[in-house]
Amino acid sequence: MSLSTFFFEVYKKVIFILPPERAHDVSLYIADKIYSSYLKNFFKSKTIIHNKNIMDINFPNTLGLAAGFDKNGDYINFISNIGFGFIELGTVTPKPQEGNPKPRVFRLAENEAIINRLGFNNKGVQYLKNKLLSIERQVPIGINIGKNSSTKIEKAYEDYEYCMEEIFTLADYITLNISSPNTERLRELHSESSLDSFLNKIKRKHDALVKKHHKHVPLVLKVSPDINQSDLEKFCKLLMNYEIDGVIATNTTVNKDILNNMSKDIEGGLSGKPLLNKSNEIISIIKKHVGDKVKVIGTGGITSKESAMSKLDCGADLLQIYTGLVYKGTNLIKEITSSIR
Ligand code: FNR
Repeated sequence: MSLSTFFFEVYKKVIFILPPERAHDVSLYIADKIYSSYLKNFFKSKTIIHNKNIMDINFPNTLGLAAGFDKNGDYINFISNIGFGFIELGTVTPKPQEGNPKPRVFRLAENEAIINRLGFNNKGVQYLKNKLLSIERQVPIGINIGKNSSTKIEKAYEDYEYCMEEIFTLADYITLNISSPNTERLRELHSESSLDSFLNKIKRKHDALVKKHHKHVPLVLKVSPDINQSDLEKFCKLLMNYEIDGVIATNTTVNKDILNNMSKDIEGGLSGKPLLNKSNEIISIIKKHVGDKVKVIGTGGITSKESAMSKLDCGADLLQIYTGLVYKGTNLIKEITSSIR
């Protein structure tokens, strides 16, 4: 065991005494303070560079931080300096919102998994916009947008249009998150007719923004792992019809059959190791249908270099992690980026 792994294991023993959401906030607050000071020079991890140009963005390497880890852009100093090739902020919504009542994040340590039902708790798109205006960029930044819980699903596109307009010039790519299981009816946007009408409006707005700013900001859709095969095939056709640049596969799953313990009954979306095979299956199907026309960002269950590799083998162009980082710490970033290209 390396010295840094040993320190992380000790740190984990202490910080895991706190409830998961508190542990997350405390750890990131401390880390960001360190990375905003001269101490950064002692802790900063070298970003392993294998430049990749995907969606016309130059990524220093293919591993990114998944959405939800830094919803509001409060910890950009930290997350930009630990070896990621890109980071995704959000999900943000037009207005700030509290999300669901606590507790709403649960650790399943024996499964290297998390169940969360946060419900898009965030400080609103204006807050994130101000954060982005005040920082120096180190790696490409994706911005993940969603709808407020008070917005009816039929009007969801208005929230996405609003957020897209607000952050258009600040994002390297924009993710439309239609796959959180914790916002009522959101996943209905996966059905063919809803998605068709949603993308029609979004694409029109996007085209107008491209024209206005003389800048193409790639559009990416985040898909649920719980979509059935026939819907997924239609989903892929629409991605191509509307010339969507990329797809993130996948968000968390509500299918807990994979778990063989009491955690099955906890409401929310499951992430981490038990999600790997399901997410990989979705990536393979998408890849079969979209080929190279739509880029695939593979997310879900990466906890080692082997699991990262398995996603690339399924056809992913880029990768993202969240839960693996909670259980393995920043060493996981180095383990993966030094072994994949
Ligand atoms: C998430 N995820 C997520 N995704 C998203 O698009 N917007 C969000 O706000 C969040 N929030 C969030 C909170 C928590 C606590 C977790 C664990 C996850 C989903 C995340 O980005 C990713 O898609 C899944 O977690 C699968 O990847 P991992 O965690 O298995 O690497």
